[in-house]
Amino acid sequence: MNKKTVKDIDLKGKKVLIRCDFNVPMDEQRNITDNTRIVAALPTIKYLLDNNCAIILCSHLGRPKGEFKPEFSLKPVAKELSKLLHQDVMMAEDVVGEDATTKAANLQQGQIMLLENVRFHKEETDNDPEFSKKLASMAEVYVNDAFGSAHRAHASTAGVAAYLPAVSGFLIEKELQFLGGAVTNPQRPFVAILGGAKVSDKIGVIDSLLEKVDTLMIGGGMAYTFFKAQGYEVGKSICELDKLGLAKDLMEKAKQKGVKLILPLDTVIAKEPGEDVESKTVKCTEIPADWEGFDIGQETIKIFSEELKNAKTVVWNGPLGLFEFDQFAIGTNEIAKVLAEIDAITIIGGGDSAAAVKKAGLEDKMTHISTGGGASLEFLEGKKLPGIECLMDK
Ligand code: 3PG
Repeated sequence: MNKKTVKDIDLKGKKVLIRCDFNVPMDEQRNITDNTRIVAALPTIKYLLDNNCAIILCSHLGRPKGEFKPEFSLKPVAKELSKLLHQDVMMAEDVVGEDATTKAANLQQGQIMLLENVRFHKEETDNDPEFSKKLASMAEVYVNDAFGSAHRAHASTAGVAAYLPAVSGFLIEKELQFLGGAVTNPQRPFVAILGGAKVSDKIGVIDSLLEKVDTLMIGGGMAYTFFKAQGYEVGKSICELDKLGLAKDLMEKAKQKGVKLILPLDTVIAKEPGEDVESKTVKCTEIPADWEGFDIGQETIKIFSEELKNAKTVVWNGPLGLFEFDQFAIGTNEIAKVLAEIDAITIIGGGDSAAAVKKAGLEDKMTHISTGGGASLEFLEGKKLPGIECLMDK
């Protein structure tokens, strides 16, 4: 990485503002249901503690749209952090108000404070320079470790870097090492598996990966747009009629680049989504009019698995079926199991594919599971991420 990290500057004893991505899922009682992103922030926090820093943490949670809404408070995160770090993590009542600035001014070396949700101010998403300045005024150094938000040009993810020495934390460094390594210098055969509901969400990433991979497998809802583009009926399956031309172009590009494009052969169909609904498996080219495809079938699982057994690098983004329902999670789970077993570098894009791998209990078997959903996609597309661009060059 050509950006400075916490190891490249002297932060001993300094007051440091760290932007983390603590946008974690919570249940209705506001219990954190997956603390992965909090755990992923610990190496940087511990390194700064070892360096005697006074630490001010900040993050967003959800999309409160510039208003204080208690259900978006970061208090549960402070509690979880205290538990994981075995030390008190103070909570500020606001972001740049009197409580936060007073507590920041009095913060001692070795102490940690978490600011309230930065998105309680609309200036955050507006990337307002005055707001960035206020955030910066609380600290002497800025560390960005929020990989999951690095694709956002917001005040706390990018704007603040204009007012403080700005470096990355270990999480961003690690994400770039794995995601960047996979796409710039992959061990071959390099296979990408792309799923998810819509082609429109993945155009950029398909286009960019077609320049790099040896094989591209497509599953999930977006596969039906590719079938429709070839003239087949897809029943009630999710299909983007305005993207048929694009799907054709992508198939043509795969041919030109010599990329083996593998579409599903069979699909599990039902009349509606749900648990324990009537379902059957048919060829993807023979979906009856009032049925809908919700998962890849056994034949497809076999073909994908065979191909994956020879792979040396695999990037997977997007589930292969409607995995929220066990009945339609079989394809996603089976492919996750194959990835867990093969002798290859396995990189899982964040968001739904990460959730699917975790649901299958296989997270420890993957080389790297990204903490970024949108951010990892944009990175794989080859886009520049504002949260990384703003950091000091090495
Ligand atoms: C995410 O969960 O992908 C990140 O935290 C970014 O959240 P956002 O899409 O609300 O900016």
